Amino acid sequence: MVSPAIALAFIPFLLTVLIKYRYYILLFYRAVLVRRLQDLITGRSREDRAFQYVFTHALPGNAESILDTFDHWCTKIEYLSNIGPKKGKVLDRLIGDMAPKTVLELGTHCGYAAVRIARLLELGARLYTVEMDEENGRIAEKIIRLAGFDDDTVELINGHSEDVIPQFRERFGVDHIDFVFMDHWKRCYLRDLQLLEESGLIGKGSIILADNVIFPGAPHFLRYIKSSGLYQYRIHRATLEYFPGIRDGMAELTYMGTT
Ligand SMILES: C[S@@+](CC[C@H](N)C(=O)[O-])C[C@H]1O[C@@H](n2cnc3c(N)ncnc32)[C@H](O)[C@@H]1O
Repeated sequence: MVSPAIALAFIPFLLTVLIKYRYYILLFYRAVLVRRLQDLITGRSREDRAFQYVFTHALPGNAESILDTFDHWCTKIEYLSNIGPKKGKVLDRLIGDMAPKTVLELGTHCGYAAVRIARLLELGARLYTVEMDEENGRIAEKIIRLAGFDDDTVELINGHSEDVIPQFRERFGVDHIDFVFMDHWKRCYLRDLQLLEESGLIGKGSIILADNVIFPGAPHFLRYIKSSGLYQYRIHRATLEYFPGIRDGMAELTYMGTT
């Protein structure tokens, strides 16, 4: 039996832990507990619930309205790991400045960032977005088409990045990717960056923007870009999407390779 005195001594420790990690506890609550509970109550996936909400609240054919509705859902109703409006502005600026002809997104999820990118593409430019989860892919396809983007502007590829990147050139007739947005599982970042290098799909001046390099974090990827000598890079300090209390960042790399 633990004596009351010892139990009491633990209270300050417990309080310190709770205060220090309050945002992470809140994230766990919103992203895991609420999600599980809603899955049980509604019998539908979180992505499907988000889609139903966007479908019934956003203006079809209006990308801004679709993004705003998603942001409202993620802030007020349930958590989704879209890039979100704050980090989304960095993405917007880079796409706007570069005016890329060919963009690759790794990790489509529900299509939020795909819509964000597509709305800024110039005529004739194309976004390829890769999603390994079929259900997410189906939802993203509906969102992208709801926003008014056809297959010529946004091509959704259902598959694993590790399989898609090596086949990319042959399958899609693409020789060069100007801009890559990495937002899939963080453990895949380094391998996929190296696959992009080996395939010759990225060349001198290609930009790679990698989300969540601080939280959940991609330490091997960061070590590689610092040590390889192949990239100029900067970290855009930010907070986790829809979570101001958790520090995060995006890595912007410019490939300095020879091709
Ligand atoms: C953080 S979400 C992407 C959010 C999206 N970029 C946005 O901002 O709207 C990550 C997604 O990547 C997908 N994913 C993870 N690893 C992948 C891989 N290796 N290849 C393809 N998709 C992957 C997951 O299924 C998930 O839907």
